[in-house]
Amino acid sequence: MTTATEILQQRLPAARPRIGMILGSGWSSVIDAIENPQRVAYADLPGFPQSSVAGHVSDVVVGRLGRHEVAVMGGRKHTYETGRADAMKIPIRALREWGCDVLVQTNAAGSVDANIPPGSLMAISDHINFSQHSPLIGEMGNERFVSMTNAYDIGLRQQAHEHAGSMGVDLFEGVYAWFVGPQFETPAEIRMAMGAGANAVGMSTVPETILARHAGMQVLAFSLITNMGAGLSSETLSHAHTLSQAQASAKRATSFLARVVGQLAI
Ligand code: HPA
Repeated sequence: MTTATEILQQRLPAARPRIGMILGSGWSSVIDAIENPQRVAYADLPGFPQSSVAGHVSDVVVGRLGRHEVAVMGGRKHTYETGRADAMKIPIRALREWGCDVLVQTNAAGSVDANIPPGSLMAISDHINFSQHSPLIGEMGNERFVSMTNAYDIGLRQQAHEHAGSMGVDLFEGVYAWFVGPQFETPAEIRMAMGAGANAVGMSTVPETILARHAGMQVLAFSLITNMGAGLSSETLSHAHTLSQAQASAKRATSFLARVVGQLAI
């Protein structure tokens, strides 16, 4: 059978992307910044998932962002859609095989830190896998025991902070705690996350980081904070609220991301 990587290579024979990106809720307009975009639908790529989440795009978009050729996945399959944490295994390995050394991820998240208000951008410095799901269950070989130290590459993060500084963008940094969802957390769970040292909570990103580290890629990840965690404010949490808040910050978030990725020294 023809693999997803082979199909990507056949469809886009001249493409040599070195940076793969996965966009979460609110970040899809980064795609508009890509020069000469070429698209391949997930439906044409064996093992690529169809996302059921509003606000996600089911295409791989390949083109130039600043000084790099990038391959952007407009949406991800979340563990809460199927109960499986490995839904992005084939796409991430395909990006790696295609030549991507770096995975840049984005998401929408709730803040559990009074110093990081809604509308903020946060570089993820580390994560807590509260779900204890792993996309590597069933893998064989010693490579499965992958180190998660420096999972979110410090050198790439430093570059992001330098660009934020020169653009006048406030870029926070913090620990992202993964809850499977799709229900939002309870106030008690939010208090637990705070006590455990998290700054933000969300329903994605962690399985993809684990897969990317296992595949030997460096990871850079950003959260767009759309709300305070349950019980920390009087807002009612909903996906519509997440999307509308993300929309309000989308322009700032995506121009920042296009600059960071476009100028990334790798
Ligand atoms: N919790 C989990 N995921 C989220 C949240 C939240 O408060 N906001 C946006 N995504």
